[in-house]
Amino acid sequence: MDHRNLQVLDHPLIRHKLTLLRNKNTTHKDFRQLAEELAGLMTYEVSRNMRTKSCPIETPLEPYDGQELENEVTIVPVLRAGLVMAQGMLDMIPHAKVGHIGLFRDENTLLPVQYYCKLPESIGESDVFVVDPMLATGGSASKAIALVKERHPRSISFCCLIAAPEGIEVLQREHPDVKIVTLEIDRRLNENGYILPGLGDAGDRIYGTK
Ligand code: PRP
Ligand code: URA
Repeated sequence: MDHRNLQVLDHPLIRHKLTLLRNKNTTHKDFRQLAEELAGLMTYEVSRNMRTKSCPIETPLEPYDGQELENEVTIVPVLRAGLVMAQGMLDMIPHAKVGHIGLFRDENTLLPVQYYCKLPESIGESDVFVVDPMLATGGSASKAIALVKERHPRSISFCCLIAAPEGIEVLQREHPDVKIVTLEIDRRLNENGYILPGLGDAGDRIYGTK
């Protein structure tokens, strides 16, 4: 596999929580919490190269030449499942703006169908994180990234919890300038486009809809 622009985050806490997340016996309440926590842990790594600028303040004792994030940050969850990841990231970057992209996969064609797109007006000034727990065929992620690109942000990263090799290949081909960050790369897709071993349908597991 081509690892250009691809980062796999490996950490004992991530391995532990991801195993709990994949377990079919995990309730949707715990699933939501784990997905949020994993996105929070991810934020620590994906924000590593963000630029900071001088921010002089006064401590109660003396002046201090502090630092603050230089660029605006926008988190763009792909509905529905991306919403829990967005919350986990917002816990770490509470001043971030949030855009929403609504897509669902047509069951037969596996192609993404768009039903919503609302992005912050100032997204052109932002480092953008498009978030969705699952990168399967790559159709949804590629479409979401294309919608964000129309607004010319400073940078775009795609963050997911689990990626299939097929989806990674599609994103690397269609958006070679976008960094992909995942927690694990799984084996392959099954005949219905589900990731193996995966975790099932992320949206249904988060919201208890099936
Ligand atoms: C899931 C997932 C991704 C998409 C990934 O969403 O959250 O958005 O499938 O599949 P792809 O890489 O093959 O496009 P789904 O379409 O099930 O919608 P939902 O979140 O509303 O359940
Ligand atoms: N969407 C999901 O939620 N899970 C998969 O395995 C593939 C697409």
